[in-house]
Amino acid sequence: MHANLTRAELLRAHNYIGGQWLPAASGEQLAVVNPATGAIFAHVADSGAADALAAVDAAQAAFGSWRARSGRERAQLLKRWHALILANQEDLARIISTEQGKPLAESRGEVLYGASYVEWFAEEATRTYGDLIPEPVRGRKLMAVKEPVGVVAAITPWNFPLAMIARKFAPALAAGCTVVAKPAEDTPLTALALVRLAEEAGLPPGTINIVSASRERTPEVVDVWLADSRVRKITFTGSTPVGKHLARESAGTLKKLSLELGGNAPFIVFEDADLDAAVEGLMVSKFRNAGQTCVCPNRVFVQASVHDAFVHKLGERVSALRVGPASHEASQIGPMINARAVEKIERHVQDALAHGARLVVGGKRLDAAQVSGTPGAAGHYYAPTVLAHANTSMALAQEETFGPVVPVFRFSTEAEVIRLANDTPFGLAAYFYSRDAARVWRVADQLETGIVGINEGALAAEAAPFGGVKESGYGREGSRHGLDDYQHIKYLCQGGLL
Ligand code: SIN
Repeated sequence: MHANLTRAELLRAHNYIGGQWLPAASGEQLAVVNPATGAIFAHVADSGAADALAAVDAAQAAFGSWRARSGRERAQLLKRWHALILANQEDLARIISTEQGKPLAESRGEVLYGASYVEWFAEEATRTYGDLIPEPVRGRKLMAVKEPVGVVAAITPWNFPLAMIARKFAPALAAGCTVVAKPAEDTPLTALALVRLAEEAGLPPGTINIVSASRERTPEVVDVWLADSRVRKITFTGSTPVGKHLARESAGTLKKLSLELGGNAPFIVFEDADLDAAVEGLMVSKFRNAGQTCVCPNRVFVQASVHDAFVHKLGERVSALRVGPASHEASQIGPMINARAVEKIERHVQDALAHGARLVVGGKRLDAAQVSGTPGAAGHYYAPTVLAHANTSMALAQEETFGPVVPVFRFSTEAEVIRLANDTPFGLAAYFYSRDAARVWRVADQLETGIVGINEGALAAEAAPFGGVKESGYGREGSRHGLDDYQHIKYLCQGGLL
């Protein structure tokens, strides 16, 4: 399978370290598979400890001169990178779709979404203000200035292979940090293409370094970064167990951490809601990337008096979704990323049915050859599914399903649904629909999440602070707060001024 690129050289097979494209020191390679067909799409480096160390050496060597540049100089390079991302939008979208599986329209949207972080932080690079503090003692001047933390290690997921790298690289570089990165084993090609464009934009050698690695070798790479005291920060998007591991293991060198971890988002529909708007909001938020996002609703709570009408409308919309490979322009739901993902969805659906759920629509694997019309295709498809009569004894009430499955729970009172919504260790996103202004403020106030969608299912924006509470992690990406995670504050006290 090839991605029909205008610029084939955007498909990189090697690591980028210190301004050079290099194979893994061991010479090992990792196959990248198209999840729509099961076919191998390309090979990249399967890196190990030596590559990880070389990346830190390069990032550390580049740090001094990068941080010494003015914010405006850094901004100019980021703006050039932003322009190149936009100029290569179609190729980048095709790479995303081929290795990740999402429909092309979504991949095009992801390129714009990722690019918006680069533009935003290019602008923020010139605005890293400090404070001049009114002196408590005469004859002194007190100041607080912001400094880059140093070398940042970015570990990124497969579900948004471009946007998640962009929203970590851009603030790090804007703040004056240099970066070592490891993209997800399933989707390294988008990240490598993005780095190729950064090289073309003129980012100095060593400012961005990237190594790809298989699932098996990833711990070797990450352990080097965890142990190296020159790495001053880790930024990670992925699962809560891995986030906890990184927090524990980075304690030895007390690194700064940003952790964007798992969610178990509630989506609440009150009886005073605009039901059509709520169904629309759920479709947008739940089926983005086929349900493979950390913020997508995992538990849908509908108030008893509107429950049946809501389930009916939802069932109609979900059964009309078109499942297919990205190579079909009409596809709305692509394949799951790999076989393990489908197995988890199947387990959740079977468990829900065994605990009393009623299947409204879907509930089965789909044959890849049939879905794609390509004999022999071996992709990982699951039918968009709605389950009614969900209850808290089901596995899908506790764990993120990460697939196109909507379990609908019935509730009676506001107090009950707040308790149910917060009854999870996670706290990334929550959504609710209501037209009662007093209820809107009451509920938004009580939901224990970092992000709340109020009568809105599409929350993503570079101008907004993205991040969770509880076991969904800490740190914020995007917004004017996004640079803080890559900076520390230095206090300067000058005396002898009388
Ligand atoms: C994620 O799923 O981790 C990111 C989703 C988003 O940026 O909206």
